[in-house]
Amino acid sequence: MTETLILRELLAAEPGWVSGGAIAAKLGVSRVSVWHHMERLRAQGFAFEALPARGYRLSRRPRMLHAGLVEALLRVRRKGFAFDILDEVDSTNDEAARQLAAGRPAPFAVFAHRQTRGRGRFGRAWHSEANGNLYSSFAFRPRIAPERMQTFTLWMGVTICELVSKFVPAPPGIKWPNDIVFDGRKAGGMLTEARVDADEIRDLVFGLGLNVNSPPNGWPPDLGRRAVSLSELAGSPVDVNRLTAALIGRVLLAYERFAEGEHVDPFVDLWNRYDVLRGRDVTLAVGGRRRRGRVLGVDDVGSLLLRAENGQTRGYRAGEVTVEKGG
Ligand code: BTN
Repeated sequence: MTETLILRELLAAEPGWVSGGAIAAKLGVSRVSVWHHMERLRAQGFAFEALPARGYRLSRRPRMLHAGLVEALLRVRRKGFAFDILDEVDSTNDEAARQLAAGRPAPFAVFAHRQTRGRGRFGRAWHSEANGNLYSSFAFRPRIAPERMQTFTLWMGVTICELVSKFVPAPPGIKWPNDIVFDGRKAGGMLTEARVDADEIRDLVFGLGLNVNSPPNGWPPDLGRRAVSLSELAGSPVDVNRLTAALIGRVLLAYERFAEGEHVDPFVDLWNRYDVLRGRDVTLAVGGRRRRGRVLGVDDVGSLLLRAENGQTRGYRAGEVTVEKGG
């Protein structure tokens, strides 16, 4: 906690300096205690410049997720929200679901440096090495009707596009219903899981895997050129701690807007801004069947609108889309 407060003072002063005395006075602790905490931060990957006349300045931050730094970087600290950063877990979605089931007050979030059983849609494995990528799950208890959930992941998807667009120069896109893509390559995936009880969503977990800093040659051969990381797009490492702090702010706000029904008006316009499928010829695999057609966009709850060759248009709530060659 004290370390978070020290980091906050140093970050607020950036690129300037802040004296040990000023930090000590602000925190109500001794200068020796400040020095002691800074030694501990050094051991965690931080470095400080020190000048007798001016004080301290942050000169290096850890490249991996650091709880105190994320906390210090949060613009708005929301009462009642907490998060954990685990070194390793089977799946952050599973861990969040277990904690919800055990009664942990929501909202909260679970992050991990690495997952041993990271999951994607349809039970597929999600490559989850400790390589500077983000594995995150946000837990909520929304108590809303299950039929309202259809738009949730899509609404979160536009939120994530808005977030990542602040970190890379390339324009992000969203491939219905849950892929964050750049020029056809996948940079992130979302997995929303809910527990329904007495006709209400009782537990809700929003999982996001984002390829942040994995090196271009670091993918297993089957992912190869289909995946891309934000650092590859940016041409330099992306500050995963700053990204995470911004993610927390945006996800909590987007959730609140969703819970209040405030997403309804802006949803379709925002979706159209990032939709990469509109106008494309696709095959949709749904319930063991395949439907071919041209994507017209989404309706106001997020169903995929597909116009078949016979000219009929239908909305689909779920399924997996493959873009036709040349489509
Ligand atoms: C997909 O594209 O199919 C969704 C991928 C979701 C991956 C994330 S990583 C964090 C969270 N924990 C998991 O096990 N899965 C999600």
